[in-house]
Amino acid sequence: MLELFSKRSQIIGLDISSTSVKLLEISRGKLGMQVESYAVEPLPVNSVNEKTIQDPEAVGEAVRRVVKKSGTKANRAAVAVSGSAVITKVITAPAGLRDSELETQVMLAADQHIPYALNEVNIDFQVLGPAADDGKQVDVLLAATKTENIEDRELVLKLAGLKAAIVDVEPYTIEHAMDLIIGNDEERAAKTIAVIDVGATMTSLNVIQDRQLIYTREQPFGGKLLTEEIMRRYGLSYQDAGRAKRVGGLPEDYLPEVLEPFKQSIAQHINRYLQFYYSSSQDVEVDEILLAGGSSSIEGIDGYITDHIGTPSSLVNPFERLECREGIDRERLIQDGPAMMIACGLALRGNE
Ligand SMILES: Nc1ncnc2c1ncn2[C@@H]1O[C@H](COP(=O)(O)OP(=O)(O)OP(=O)(O)O)[C@@H](O)[C@H]1O
Ligand SMILES: [Mg+2]
Repeated sequence: MLELFSKRSQIIGLDISSTSVKLLEISRGKLGMQVESYAVEPLPVNSVNEKTIQDPEAVGEAVRRVVKKSGTKANRAAVAVSGSAVITKVITAPAGLRDSELETQVMLAADQHIPYALNEVNIDFQVLGPAADDGKQVDVLLAATKTENIEDRELVLKLAGLKAAIVDVEPYTIEHAMDLIIGNDEERAAKTIAVIDVGATMTSLNVIQDRQLIYTREQPFGGKLLTEEIMRRYGLSYQDAGRAKRVGGLPEDYLPEVLEPFKQSIAQHINRYLQFYYSSSQDVEVDEILLAGGSSSIEGIDGYITDHIGTPSSLVNPFERLECREGIDRERLIQDGPAMMIACGLALRGNE
């Protein structure tokens, strides 16, 4: 049999977000990468709120449905916890320690830097390289999240008959997806790129430079506010308001009186996020804004942000260079692209 693409990775990327569960499976082979399976399943209102799973049963059911819909054979998943659920800290440790010694050092540092009891958190660490001015020390990146953040996700997967193979952190999944988008374009890689994910309940800023995440921040803000305003103003249900946002059909005053102020609000938020970034220790100017998340599908939002912020902005799409397995609706995949950044980063982790 001809095998142009490698065997399936058997690990799917699963973004459990506040409005839906997004599933993506990517294989890596000699001819490049290919989308093997893809499906999105809506979640009941408030079953996930601001990245916290409130109703594991309902979310587990949705995961089961999305797996079925996608047709994947995989039974292991890569999932992510949100950036704000994770505390990271760069510590230094003596170079050349054995693994067990390094772990002891890391736990000591964690005890000092993490504001929770150590038995309530999951800790991971990675040696970054030699510390700046000293050959005898190494920098170590320490990451910790409350155990419940991971357990909630593991429970949901278990309810759907899946195992958690990888638990990543959302901003790092965006770093991963950006690596795919940048490809071999070294000029672009050297640029400072702000990926701004405007979801339904949360908006994050992720600054990438030299393929590395150098800054991240997220806050509650997103398209749900627009949905709620449509519900209030036109007396629509949540579902109908959500549909109207995508397909239109609202009264004439919608554009000037509802959508325009919301676009303004997005621009204000992005401006504020960038100010946070510039006032942090990192002050490399952002060259380019890439808009992600479902709310970036608002028509013309990229041009609007370019005009209002003064930095070239466009929609990001992780699927432009990917092949698709036969039977996948490529048009829909491309249309959903900006909202699939996290799922994409997770799927890539799954096939490394
Ligand atoms: N064409 C469109 N115009 C305006 N808004 C849209 C459009 N398509 C989708 N949206 C909005 O995008 C949001 C969903 O985006 P996305 O899938 O990125 O959110 P999410 O990942 O579920 O949320 P969060 O990241 O906050 O958990 C919803 O508020 C939806 O109404
Ligand atoms: Mg999201």
